[in-house]
Amino acid sequence: MEAERFLDEVLIRVKSFLESSQTESKIRDSQTYSSLARTSDLKLPMEGRGLEAVLDDIESVLRYSVRTTAPGFMNPLWGGLSTASIAGELVTAATNTAMYTYEIAPIATLIESTLLKRMGELADFGNSQGTLTTGGSNGNLLGMLCARQAKAPLSSHSGFDGAKMVAFVSEESHYSFSIASNVIGIGHSNLIKVRCNEDGQMRPESLEEEIDRALREGQIPFAVLATSGTTVRGSFDPLREIAAIAHKYELWMHVDAAWGGSCLFSSRYRSLMDGIELADSFCWDAHKMMGVPLICSAFIVKDAEMLRTVCSNGNTAHYLYLETGENVDLGQYSLQCGRRNDALKLWLAWREIGDAGWASMVERFMELADYLEERVKENEYLQMVSKRMWTNVCFRYVGNSPDGDINRINAELRQRIIQDGRFMVSRSTIDDQIILRSVIANRNVTEESLDSFLDCVISLGKDIERGLPQK
Ligand SMILES: Cc1ncc(COP(=O)(O)O)c(C=O)c1O
Repeated sequence: MEAERFLDEVLIRVKSFLESSQTESKIRDSQTYSSLARTSDLKLPMEGRGLEAVLDDIESVLRYSVRTTAPGFMNPLWGGLSTASIAGELVTAATNTAMYTYEIAPIATLIESTLLKRMGELADFGNSQGTLTTGGSNGNLLGMLCARQAKAPLSSHSGFDGAKMVAFVSEESHYSFSIASNVIGIGHSNLIKVRCNEDGQMRPESLEEEIDRALREGQIPFAVLATSGTTVRGSFDPLREIAAIAHKYELWMHVDAAWGGSCLFSSRYRSLMDGIELADSFCWDAHKMMGVPLICSAFIVKDAEMLRTVCSNGNTAHYLYLETGENVDLGQYSLQCGRRNDALKLWLAWREIGDAGWASMVERFMELADYLEERVKENEYLQMVSKRMWTNVCFRYVGNSPDGDINRINAELRQRIIQDGRFMVSRSTIDDQIILRSVIANRNVTEESLDSFLDCVISLGKDIERGLPQK
């Protein structure tokens, strides 16, 4: 089979997968790991099987893949896809290049720079710099690394003793900050968890108390790490108040806006990140709410030199970075060497719908989350568990059961939802209560799909209460 016809055939299968994801009732095959491993032929052959056989393999992969664009997919903080972005992914693969130098990625370099500049402008960051990373986790790592560099300018060259260096983060922040604490050399125990209020937002007065306590105990504070859009509740920390404290103590302020950053597009919801312009750096995942295929994530920093220093290679990459007279090679602002062109898919999606399209997307998602919240509130079998700020809707089934049983029922309910296969939401815990977290980040969700979802939750919840087995 020649390559051209093969690619046409691949596209036919991919299109059919995407189309059927909107109509198939099951979004996930419920086979267990061991049964799927037993029934799949995944062996790497001694002799090649040819492109025809690759088409069969693609069909099998599609058959056993979760349909993450289906309206019932509300599990992680992403789902659904921008069509222009899928094209971007394809073109990125076909034009296969690495983002380190302008020479090897000319138009891609200009595109990535355009995006980073615009994302910085949306946060009123002025003349900022940045890089696309492998995700919010690495954006948070870069934020902490820049903060370390700001406090200990020799650390990138001569190393440092991180035993006394402490950073502050909300107790509801993402776990990537713990990983980053290890990587930058301060260790998990030097990441101080600041108490949140009942809505899951960092309490500024607790932050200040923790900083004062650390100083009294001879520790060296160096970073305040706020979150705009927490993973479970979708809470936004009060950035303006946090920035005032960070500035008072001369600490670097990084904001994890991996999930909530898209609010910056909407005049109605931008205030959730009021004060972002006072931070030193932030990260923002386009692969979450914006429907750009994983991976696409930005890290933006006001002080370009700080980012350049933490990514410095000590002039050892003489074979890559030549003196062209123009300081345009993005590799000098990245921890990676080879790096995909993740910019193209975001740029194409942005060109398609513009700022106004992103604003409408955010507002539509909030409208759907409002709708789901209202349906939950008016239903006697269900209960909202946390105040809603973003599109995370955290609730639980309460039915007619005594308090003591509700956690067990919701744990089983989540399992039965997954087994049922029509919907996917995640399970989490808020104040010792097991909850279902459904997230609106998928452009194929509708009011009707949300109604069906709640019907499914209630029907399965009643079965559990009655002691009926999974159907
Ligand atoms: C608030 C928050 N920050 C950071 C991350 C990590 O992002 P990524 O998965 O892109 O590394 C997540 C992931 O869900 C998140 O919820």
